[in-house]
Amino acid sequence: MTSQSLMCIVLAAGKGTRMKSALPKVLHKIAGRSMLGHVLALTASSGATRTSVVVGPGMDNVAAEAARMLAGSQVYVQHEQRGTAAAVLAAKAALEGYQGDVIVLYADTPLIRPETIARLRAMLDDGAEIVVLGFRPLDPAGYGRLITDASANLIAIREDKDASADERSIDLCNSGVMAFRVLALAGLLSRIGNANAKGEYYLTDAVEIGRGDGLKAAVVECDEDEVLGVNARDQLASAEAIWQRRARQRFMLAGVTMMAPETVWLSHDTRIAADVTIEPNVVFGPGVTVEEGAEIKANCHFEGAVIGRGARVGPFARLRPGAKLGADVHVGNFVEVKNVTMAEGSKANHLAYLGDGSVGAKANVGAGTIFCNYDGFNKHRTEIGAGAFVGSNSSLVAPVKIGDGAYIGSGSVITKDVNPGALALERSTQEERPGWAEKFRILMARRQSKS
Ligand code: UD1
Ligand code: MG
Repeated sequence: MTSQSLMCIVLAAGKGTRMKSALPKVLHKIAGRSMLGHVLALTASSGATRTSVVVGPGMDNVAAEAARMLAGSQVYVQHEQRGTAAAVLAAKAALEGYQGDVIVLYADTPLIRPETIARLRAMLDDGAEIVVLGFRPLDPAGYGRLITDASANLIAIREDKDASADERSIDLCNSGVMAFRVLALAGLLSRIGNANAKGEYYLTDAVEIGRGDGLKAAVVECDEDEVLGVNARDQLASAEAIWQRRARQRFMLAGVTMMAPETVWLSHDTRIAADVTIEPNVVFGPGVTVEEGAEIKANCHFEGAVIGRGARVGPFARLRPGAKLGADVHVGNFVEVKNVTMAEGSKANHLAYLGDGSVGAKANVGAGTIFCNYDGFNKHRTEIGAGAFVGSNSSLVAPVKIGDGAYIGSGSVITKDVNPGALALERSTQEERPGWAEKFRILMARRQSKS
């Protein structure tokens, strides 16, 4: 562990025009969390004690997301986009009097791992004063090239547009992540000029200027996947795919069975215990926990739900926020559950809507049962007692309580509370006319022969 404290500066001032979106680029989501949120989670898990986010003018929603995702993060506005060095200098106030490591990250590069940040810091501990995260892309065009000497020291970073043909043939590229252990970093950066092809202040020039001061610069390499930058929607989808692949792998290694992992979509906060089985085509929205041994059948959609130990859910089940399924609960096909607690061993196996309420232990909710929870203005609760049996095609008009062990006759519209152990029926009495069918058929046959 390094003894130095860590400050991260996250650059997010770019407009992201290639996203063709009303939303700033860094608020677009991967696994249900904004790209900025992913990078701020990285800074927190890397042990940063201070994080500054540099936004463009008018990006109040980006500033709000920074505050929501990381309490204590500081937001600085870069009024004119004049390059990455100018962006870091927009957070100059944060650097004043600070002594420790500084790592610059881009908010549109959301897949970097904490382990990689730890490698950069270890290199600073080893005596480098500037460390750049490099990678070798399949196609280096467009990236800054890392120029190294025979002992792998970093000599300079040359931007693609400013590079000679020889320099362009270098395949080691700059990811944009740079780590510094430089006293008076702001002083170093303010010496960077803009005499280059783009007329911008390049953060990458810090390497050559620093070396002129006698500082040591080094490179840490990582895979191309990890430093994928998102500029357009196709890259957003690629980043999502990489994130999902990693998350599935992590769950499988932790004991989760996935029959077709490539069809399971996870959220940044999904929690799945060991010995859970997941069939194909399951989508986990945010806020889902699945406990040990649960079985998720094909084609389910979950959000804000808890699935208890040994529960069986699906195929084709939808669990919405506040669905809390206890141990061994069964929720079957075409059942929607929202804001309902289902106690241990209770069942709703077919075609039902359970919204706002509770189902007691071992209660059975029949096919076609609807909790009529909404009167157009307010939501009301339906409470079903332990061991109760709700017959098929029942409408339970909330607010209503079904006592423990009670029975509801099929097809009933229940508007009043039902006492424990009672049978409640609400439907007209069945009528029967003996021999009617035979007479009807004869009558119809005569009519047909006449016409
Ligand atoms: C930058 C690097 C390049 C590297 C590449 C990796 C420089 C000079 N070049 O080039 O070596 O290979 O990233 O993708 O650093 N930003 C601001 N304010 C600005 C300018 C940029 O906040 O004034 C932010 C952008 O929103 C973006 C990041 O900084 O997230 C990088 O800027 P960009 O213009 O994409 O730099 P590149 O030319 O791609
Ligand atoms: Mg770029």
